[in-house]
Amino acid sequence: MTAYSLDHVTMAFGGRRRKVTALESLTLHIGEHERWGIVGESGSGKTSLLKILAGLIRPTSGVVHFLGRDLDHANREAMASLRASVQMVFQDPRSSLNPRMRISEIISEPLRSPLLKGRVDVPTNPETRVSEVLDAVGLPPDAATRFPHEFSGGQRQRIALARALAPRPRILLADEPVSSLDVSVRAHVLNLLNSLVDSMGLTLIMVTHDLAVVRHTCDHVGVLQQGILVESGKVLEVMNHPKQEYTQELLNAVPRIKESG
Ligand SMILES: Nc1ncnc2c1ncn2[C@@H]1O[C@H](COP(=O)(O)OP(=O)(O)OP(=O)(O)O)[C@@H](O)[C@H]1O
Ligand SMILES: [Mg+2]
Repeated sequence: MTAYSLDHVTMAFGGRRRKVTALESLTLHIGEHERWGIVGESGSGKTSLLKILAGLIRPTSGVVHFLGRDLDHANREAMASLRASVQMVFQDPRSSLNPRMRISEIISEPLRSPLLKGRVDVPTNPETRVSEVLDAVGLPPDAATRFPHEFSGGQRQRIALARALAPRPRILLADEPVSSLDVSVRAHVLNLLNSLVDSMGLTLIMVTHDLAVVRHTCDHVGVLQQGILVESGKVLEVMNHPKQEYTQELLNAVPRIKESG
């Protein structure tokens, strides 16, 4: 099954005078269980694409299919299904976790979403689910009663991951999930993300400006340049035989993560 199918999607912001075309005629197919890295320079449209995939904004033109259904303006049912099956992890857990809420409340919040109503696999006991996902991200059970400021950056991103996984999403969207973290903990969080995506059979779409992260985590990659998808395909093919000079430049700009074993 195709998770997402985008056909000539264009996203323009602003009025006639100051129009910014964040994405231009983007066509892309993302299969279920694939792991996509979306790369490109600042302002190339990465976050805009993720917001469209999350249903947070609607494209100016073009067609988006989610799990085979057209997400057009009239289609509420498809939109509800999207909102119920997709979760997102943001760049900076300092701003994405409410400082006044205990970790248990933060993690169980998406479970209370009315959008999950009617879905059969939704965890019914929030407390049990909080313990399960805390365990899955490697945090102790007593983390549940504490507040975000009591945790390090890496731990907070684990909490954000736990919150995203709590309602058993099918698709995980991540916007630069490790770029706010100390270099020393990035690999740990990425490895955790990898193994959770594996064990839960998720589709992953991760925005990053770091091709080393893509190489480490993803099987597919899309390269955005000023709103245009200039390259897309399997990571190894794109990285070993980049068709575009721009991709080659991106590749030259980053050091390789050491391949181990
Ligand atoms: N809500 C908005 N209103 C107006 N312009 C916007 C809006 N959101 C994004 N843009 C513009 O669209 C373009 C793409 O922005 P986007 O945030 O998608 O880029 P990005 O690749 O995520 O960049 P970064 O790496 O800096 O996060 C930019 O020129 C940006 O200024
Ligand atoms: Mg962005």
